[in-house]
Amino acid sequence: MLDLQKIRADFPILSQKVNGKPLVYFDNGATSQKPQVVIDAIAKYYQEINANIHRGVHTLSQLATDAYELSRGKIQHHINAKHAHEVLFTSGTTHGVNLVANGFASLLKSGDEVLVSALEHHSNIVPWQMLCERTGASLKVIPMNEKGELILSVFDELLSEKTKIVTVNHISNALGTINPIKYIIDKAHEFDAVVFIDGAQAVPHLKPDVQALDCDFYAFSGHKMCGPTGTGILYGKEAWLNKLPPYQGGGEMIKEVTFEKTTYADLPHKFEAGTPNIAGGIVLGTAVDYMNEIGFENIQAQELALLEYGTQRLSEIEGLRIYGTSENKTSVISFNIDGIHPYDIGTIIDKLGIAVRTGHHCAQPIMNFFEIPGTIRASFSFYNTKEEIDSLVEAVKKAKMMLS
Ligand code: ALA
Repeated sequence: MLDLQKIRADFPILSQKVNGKPLVYFDNGATSQKPQVVIDAIAKYYQEINANIHRGVHTLSQLATDAYELSRGKIQHHINAKHAHEVLFTSGTTHGVNLVANGFASLLKSGDEVLVSALEHHSNIVPWQMLCERTGASLKVIPMNEKGELILSVFDELLSEKTKIVTVNHISNALGTINPIKYIIDKAHEFDAVVFIDGAQAVPHLKPDVQALDCDFYAFSGHKMCGPTGTGILYGKEAWLNKLPPYQGGGEMIKEVTFEKTTYADLPHKFEAGTPNIAGGIVLGTAVDYMNEIGFENIQAQELALLEYGTQRLSEIEGLRIYGTSENKTSVISFNIDGIHPYDIGTIIDKLGIAVRTGHHCAQPIMNFFEIPGTIRASFSFYNTKEEIDSLVEAVKKAKMMLS
C-alpha cells in the first residue's frame, strides 16, 4: 500500500487552496503535478551545470552532456529499448507523431493505406491525414463500440497488403480504454505494416516494454508522468529510424555540411536538430526515477481502487452517464449529466476547488460517435484519494442542483 500522506507531501501544489477551497486535482490526463524532487532538479541544473550539450570541450558542457545522455539511458532502460540511440528526445508526443508521419512522406504512395483508430486524440489523426494528403494514401478507421472499445474483427478485415502504417493509442485520453496493442501490433506485422503507438496516456500508469510489444514506434510526453512540460520521447526501432529522413535540418544533426551536400549524423542526433530542452530532458530522467521508486504496481493498485470507487460513487448520481465502460480501462472517468452542458458543471465545480477537464478532449470523433459536445473528465493519479472523490461527487451534486 502507498503511504499517501507521504506521497502527497512530495507535491507542493496539492496542499494549495483554489478559490478558497482545498485543491482537488483531477486533470491528470492533461498534465500531472510535479514532485519537489523534479522541481529541485530543474533549479539544480540551472544553478550548477547549465551549458549547451554535445558542443563544448569545457567542463560545464561535458557535465550537461553527460547528464542528458544519462537520462536517455535511464529512459532506454525504463522502456526496455535495445539501444540508447533508439530513444529520441522530443518536445512531446505530438512532436513524435509529426516526426514519423512526416518521414513517411517519401515512403508512401497513392493506393497505400494508413489505419488509425476511432479512439485517437487529434494529434494522432491530423499528422496522418496530412501525410495522406501529401502522398495520395488513404486513411482508414478502426471503429469502436458503445463501450469505447475497438472492434477488432473490423480491424482484421481492414488489414491488407495495402496497409502500410497502423497507428493507435495505448490508452484513450478521453475514455481511458486500454487498447489491445499487442494483438494490433502482431496482426499488423503479418502484413508488414509499421505500427506507431501513442503512449501519452499510458506512461503515467504503466511501464511499456517496447521490445516485448515489438512496436516500431512508441511516443510519449514527459509532463504527464511527473516530468517537465515540453519534454517527450520517441522510441523507434533502429532500422526504421535509419530509413526515415531527418525531420528538421540544423545544427547537431549533421556529419558534414558543404553548399553542395550535407551528410547526416548517426542516431539519435540525426533527429535532434537545434539546442534541445536540456534541463527538461535531464529532469525527465529524475521523474522516471521518482515513479519507479514509487513502483508501477503500487501506482496501478491505487489508481484501480480510485477508478472503482469513483465509478461507484459517481454512478449514484441520477442522470449521470459514464462514457467509456470497457473492462480494460485506466483511471479516467468521462461523464455527463442529462440536459446539462459539461462546461457548466466544470465551471461550477472549479469554484469548489475541483479541477477537471471539460470539452471534447481533442478527440472530436469520439464525441461525434456519442453525439455529444463533450464530457466532464476526471482523471486520477496515484496521489489522489478517495476523500477527494467524495468532494467531487458532492460538488457535482451541488452543480446539478443549481443547473437543473
Ligand atoms: N492530451 C491531453 C488531455 O487529454 C492534453 O487532456
